[in-house]
Amino acid sequence: MSRSIELEDGRVVTRSDGDTYQEMLDRETNPVPAPLRESTDTFLGSDNLSVDRYLSREFHELEVEKMWNRTWQAVCRETEIGNPGDYFVHDITTYSIVVTRTESGALKGYHNACLHRGRQLRKDCGNAREFKCPYHGFRWSLEGDFKGAPCEWDFPHINKSEFSLPQVQVDTWGGWVFMNMDLEAESLQSYMGILPQHFTRWKPENTFKALHVEKVIECNWKVAWEAFIESFHTVQTHPQIMPYLGDSNSQYDCWGDNVSRTISPMGVVSPHLENVEPGQTVNDWLQHANLLAGGEKMEVPEGMTAREWLADYYFSAFSEQYKTDLASFCTHSEIMDSILYSLFPNFAPWAGFHPNLTYRMKPYGDNHEMCTMEIIVLMRYPEGEDRPVDCPVQRLDKDQLFSEAEGLEGGLGRVFDQDFSNLKMVQRGLKNLKSGEVVLGNYQEIRIRHFHQTLDKYVYA
Ligand SMILES: [Fe+2]
Repeated sequence: MSRSIELEDGRVVTRSDGDTYQEMLDRETNPVPAPLRESTDTFLGSDNLSVDRYLSREFHELEVEKMWNRTWQAVCRETEIGNPGDYFVHDITTYSIVVTRTESGALKGYHNACLHRGRQLRKDCGNAREFKCPYHGFRWSLEGDFKGAPCEWDFPHINKSEFSLPQVQVDTWGGWVFMNMDLEAESLQSYMGILPQHFTRWKPENTFKALHVEKVIECNWKVAWEAFIESFHTVQTHPQIMPYLGDSNSQYDCWGDNVSRTISPMGVVSPHLENVEPGQTVNDWLQHANLLAGGEKMEVPEGMTAREWLADYYFSAFSEQYKTDLASFCTHSEIMDSILYSLFPNFAPWAGFHPNLTYRMKPYGDNHEMCTMEIIVLMRYPEGEDRPVDCPVQRLDKDQLFSEAEGLEGGLGRVFDQDFSNLKMVQRGLKNLKSGEVVLGNYQEIRIRHFHQTLDKYVYA
């Protein structure tokens, strides 16, 4: 079932039956922040996409040569390299970059290779007073300046003042460290478009990393990425969440080349279902979130919607946790909806005042038929109190389930496992797609089309 909607610019568009997300916002009791009131209703055509993008080695190599070395990518949290000498290695396809905090507290990034015979200088993360190559002992300061080597008499041809580690661009946003290998690239601020302005209210810099799971998946990285920038698949892949997720009422937005967003309303029943009582919505949701003791059931008073009940429940739970009165300023949307932004190419932060999921997908080394997916949960803590320490990464191999990770045992892990069950099968199916092309929906899959149009600007430049 669908409805026609006339937009302010005169266009008539087709959308799912039921309330639009904007109509749900009309019922908010607290003022709605401006970023949530934006609705771009982007249309980018209906062309199919070639399967070569996911399958061919040539396309992967174009991404390596023309995209991964020219885009801004999240490296780690600022708190993970908080002290002078802390370093973090960002590996992406064939590239390796080491980002470090210098003595002055500044962040710098270098191509991770010794300028003598090329050995990789560092792996993973740690703390170092200088970058000393483990092969022959050539040394560079944290500022990247050459400090010396054994038997320097044999290298009279080295100009020490020019023998510095080649740098990359490094900047920060929202508590994240970003890098871009392209020294000519636009600034991170400009690259992010509307995103920093939208997030000023949610302040992801005031969080700590409460969960970090990285899993290997047997599919091209874009197959995994695309599974998390649309909610359309809920009806078939995650039927158990439909009593409390307005899947096809989701709003999809695109801004510029690099930013897009899905907002999926929670605490409302999917338009695909009929006759779901508010009590079922509330209890199914609380069970998913592991918030109900066995057999426990909540009552929803007559005349109250499930969305209102759940908002009140979360306002009181999170207000206590953050020692802030959320009910006085926070919208129902910001306390429970899935508000998922993405920054090209592979970084997807949730917004709002609930614990914020963040996703990142990367090719698995230089392998274009495998990838890693990271699930990170950023949590708030009471203002003025010490920031809790970031958690370590839990790594899962290709045969493990997300729900095997500590912290993903409940309904959330089950949802990720349902997504995971599709991904390898998509990669295999693409090889047997006789048309050689995938087909996309005009609205619900607009972010996938938007993503590929930006990717084209790099690989076919
Ligand atoms: Fe999913």
